Amino acid sequence: MDTIPFHHPFIGPEEEEAVIRVLRSGWLTTGKEALAFEEEFGNFLGQGFFCLAVNSATSGLHLALEALRIGPGDAVFLPTYTFTATAEVVRYLGAEIVFVDIAPDSYNMDNLALERAIHGFTGTNVKLKPKAIIVVHFGGLPCDMTAINRTAQNYDLAVVEDAAHAFPVRTLPPSGPWAGTCSDTGVFSFYATKTITTGEGGMVVTEQEDLARRISIMRSHGIDRSVWNRYTDNAASWYYEVTAPGYKYNLPDLLAAVGRVQLGRAMELLAMRKKIAERYDQAFVNNSSLIIPPREGARHLYTIRLRKPEGRDSFIESLRSQGIGCSVHFIPLHLMPYYRERYGLKPEDYPESAKRYLETVSLPIWPGMSEAQVDRVIESVKRSL
Ligand SMILES: Cc1ncc(COP(=O)(O)O)c(C=O)c1O
Repeated sequence: MDTIPFHHPFIGPEEEEAVIRVLRSGWLTTGKEALAFEEEFGNFLGQGFFCLAVNSATSGLHLALEALRIGPGDAVFLPTYTFTATAEVVRYLGAEIVFVDIAPDSYNMDNLALERAIHGFTGTNVKLKPKAIIVVHFGGLPCDMTAINRTAQNYDLAVVEDAAHAFPVRTLPPSGPWAGTCSDTGVFSFYATKTITTGEGGMVVTEQEDLARRISIMRSHGIDRSVWNRYTDNAASWYYEVTAPGYKYNLPDLLAAVGRVQLGRAMELLAMRKKIAERYDQAFVNNSSLIIPPREGARHLYTIRLRKPEGRDSFIESLRSQGIGCSVHFIPLHLMPYYRERYGLKPEDYPESAKRYLETVSLPIWPGMSEAQVDRVIESVKRSL
């Protein structure tokens, strides 16, 4: 019996040719391919965005918060229902995290809970100053950015979008701006399992020139000139100035070249995921043992909720024994030892997230899955329930 993996990247001869082109070019690190990738990404999103290619979304989030001058004494609000990358970057900078629960009918942060958390915090915590909100478009499901930005404005907070799952998807109303472009800065991921991939990689997007400049410098050791600029500019190639203790977060051309091909396929890959999701929706919508995910967004993840959570782990085991790979998104961060102990948190502090975690299973949804494979997943799910 063949195994259907949880994920399999969609890579063709064009990606292979792109890698060979760069390998043969004599320039492997960040250079003209990365610049072209940034320009093409900007063209995709529309005019006016600075796009900065980085080696992961995690480093992009770190750079975004650093450019917003988040640091010790600051509080950053973010959902507990996310991957640790969203939160760890806050701690890199010495700031503190305030977790927020998800909404009962969504996988995204609850705007009312967010308001309450900020309101309850303001004035009562003398040691910390609310500074920023990080929203996560879970599984490519767009957050209500109008509501989030209103809240941010009320409390004078910066907003960062963790758009790791959300390329390409429009925010509400359905033809609103792209997720990742509705805040001070948005960050996309090109990790191996993401909607487009470079193996590892990410893109930071902002309309604010000062943020873009800081991010650009800090992703390359705090040096005021990029390596490519030093190579191509008429000014002396050996001279540069270190303006801050920066990081090493640039995206090499080898990966950027793959990203350019994947970017060209982004809408096609989205259509393929949508087709699979719609087949799952149809197969499961009337099944009384589970709840299907919201039928919108980039459909990066297909998360079902079991009505009998006590059977979740044996359900996953049953799928595994039938050769179906699956996963769980997410184990909420407030249950993780580091965050639990640092902030003295209990599972019931975020009841929706704690409950959702126990009910949820992510099924395979990757472009290139055959109809027969999708049918096999559907049959295996029904058999396992
Ligand atoms: C919600 C979320 N944010 C950020 C990241 C980090 O992305 P990367 O692996 O590109 O650093 C992930 C990775 O899975 C994620 O799921």
